[in-house]
Amino acid sequence: MAVLPISVIFLAFISIPYSIANPNSPNASPKPSPVASPKPSPRASPKPSPVASPKPSPLASPKPSPVASPKPSPLASPKPSPAASPNPRPLASPMPSAKPALRADYYKATCPDFEKIVREFVHQKQTQSPSTAAGALRVFMHDCFVDGCDGSVLISSNAFNVAERDSDINLSLPGDAFDVVIKIKNALEDACPGVVSCADILTASTRNLVVMAGGPRFNVSFGRKDGLVSQAARIPGNLPTNNMTMDEILKMFASKGFSIQEYVALMGAHTIGFAHCKEFSDRLFKFAPNQPTDPELNPKYAEALKAACKNHEQNITMTAFNDVMSPGKFDNSYFRGLPRGLGLLRVDNMLVKDPRTKPLVDQYASNEVKFFADFAAAMEKLSLLEVKTDPKDGNVRRRCDAFNDA
Ligand code: HEM
Repeated sequence: MAVLPISVIFLAFISIPYSIANPNSPNASPKPSPVASPKPSPRASPKPSPVASPKPSPLASPKPSPVASPKPSPLASPKPSPAASPNPRPLASPMPSAKPALRADYYKATCPDFEKIVREFVHQKQTQSPSTAAGALRVFMHDCFVDGCDGSVLISSNAFNVAERDSDINLSLPGDAFDVVIKIKNALEDACPGVVSCADILTASTRNLVVMAGGPRFNVSFGRKDGLVSQAARIPGNLPTNNMTMDEILKMFASKGFSIQEYVALMGAHTIGFAHCKEFSDRLFKFAPNQPTDPELNPKYAEALKAACKNHEQNITMTAFNDVMSPGKFDNSYFRGLPRGLGLLRVDNMLVKDPRTKPLVDQYASNEVKFFADFAAAMEKLSLLEVKTDPKDGNVRRRCDAFNDA
């Protein structure tokens, strides 16, 4: 951890969560982490926050991925979860096999500087705004879960259409993630007009940003078309929410083709980034009639959060780090914190309570290499979710926030 935001609230008991962390762990934060910070408007560019680790992942692969298979990754388990409905949507492959396959070198001839331009802008953006990585990772997941990885989340609403981005759950998606995609798109339209899709830009940016935050490099391939539909009404039932039961969550992930193990690995994304106080304030102030605070929250951590979020109804921008032990670093400390009551969101804490997910939490907490490998495989699979490659299903947008015919 290096420079932390000036705006961060340093609380008197800030060392509490740190003291719970294993001081011998190489992943332990070298200095106490702040619990919460006021976050500027989600669409605005937040000021610098936890500095990302430039350390490359041990799993980082300098090689581009071989030609992508439209089949699910062999590392992924297509096994239905016990929670899956008797008649779920296809578990085997969310990617129909008749479509043209994506390719790692898709832009080699048509836009040879594609990777270089992505790399340069991502590096610049993440260095200036270290919260970009977490933002892009969430934006990417929200894009892929709603009608596939097709850049539909990037579309702005207009007088005739309320786009995905304006659904309640997406209002907190951070502006920095959109900003980096738009900057890259502008540069690519100069270099090779009308060639690179916004969906591919979001995919490549997310891959690079995760590595910049210290996480594993996952293989991605390209050739996604941008979708032709973006409707806020498509969100319910396609994105998980904080108030769902574990059965509902596992069923939703199974419906997208993800096993329980892949779900837990993907939740490791909460090792970076923020959550607004309103997302967990019920655990602090309104847990039960006779017990306002969730007893499963680490008591000292809960006190710190209560102090930080006490005015959250007046100041809706207040946030806390998802992983208080090493907020800006992509590592396995999220999983190490969960059994200690440091899971911030209800869904985080549920991972250590449910017998289907707890063994995986324990495994990832004790083995970061395994977590990185499983996370990378699950992200590769996510990047292939319901991608559109047929020109009748999509196109290459001229700008990422509007359809070509708008
Ligand atoms: C049950 C499943 C999940 C639920 C209910 C959930 C919910 C949430 C919520 C409520 C926030 C806080 C948003 C805010 O207040 O700004 C958040 C943040 C985040 N989520 Fe999830 N999430 C889930 C799974 C995932 C997955 C699978 C990924 C990625 C693979 C992911 C990546 C992130 C990231 C990176 C952040 C931090 C965003 C930022 O700092 O701007 N989440 N999530």
